[in-house]
Amino acid sequence: MGNENIVLLSAREIDKMRQAGKLAAQLLKHLGNMVKPGISTYELNEEAEKWTKAKGAKSAPLGYGNPPFPASICTSVNEVICHGIPNKKQILKDGDIINIDVTPILEGYHGDTSKTFFVGNPSLEAKKLVEVTEECLYRGINAVRPGGRIGDIGAAIQEYAESFGYSVVRNFVGHGIGRTFHTPPQVPHFGKKGTGKKLRPGMVFTIEPMINIGTWEADVLEDGWTALTKDRQLSAQFEHTIAITHGGVEILTLDT
Ligand code: MF3
Ligand code: CO
Ligand code: CO
Repeated sequence: MGNENIVLLSAREIDKMRQAGKLAAQLLKHLGNMVKPGISTYELNEEAEKWTKAKGAKSAPLGYGNPPFPASICTSVNEVICHGIPNKKQILKDGDIINIDVTPILEGYHGDTSKTFFVGNPSLEAKKLVEVTEECLYRGINAVRPGGRIGDIGAAIQEYAESFGYSVVRNFVGHGIGRTFHTPPQVPHFGKKGTGKKLRPGMVFTIEPMINIGTWEADVLEDGWTALTKDRQLSAQFEHTIAITHGGVEILTLDT
């Protein structure tokens, strides 16, 4: 398969992505500091919207897709895999885990990043899942090299996750990103080393493994967005936007 539909970004464009990525990381850190028992996911969303506007940026999720996503961030609690919708009635409680996924658009460029946070004190089971999921993200990033293949990323993630008996979500994948939120290539978090499209300098995409304690299979609610584990066991996720450089890989969604 060719790479004709994968856009390569120039050094100037990658610098714009670096600025958007930094803003995204700062927003995520800010929201993470608000996570505690008693706060609603709605309040996190309100703060995200306000903060993003104050920085002269826009929230990509708001109105995105079909049906239009109704909020500025995704908040995915416990068994929700991804695309959870903030809600006034959803109050975080001790022992919950929550993934917050932010995507501000700064000067036309998207920064996409997420983390799973603990609300109060996690169970041992939740703590282990979240730690392994974060390590999956970094193992995926470390598998990226110019001249390598997309499948190298998923292979590294799958091998690590499954060694703990966890499963890797199949139906949501990482994606190319730039002036557009979701572009080719697709970046599965499972697969075989040495397969898939070639990784080239200038490619910018996300790696965002979703790891489940039980089955990888998902249900999507009638709202058209909320994806949850079929067995309602816990799911965790971490995401960075990265760029392939001549030397290797750069994480664009860092807060410094
Ligand atoms: N930020 C999510 C991702 O990582 C996408 C969210 S789409 C939305 O790709 F519409 F739900 F915001
Ligand atoms: Co995201
Ligand atoms: Co993404």
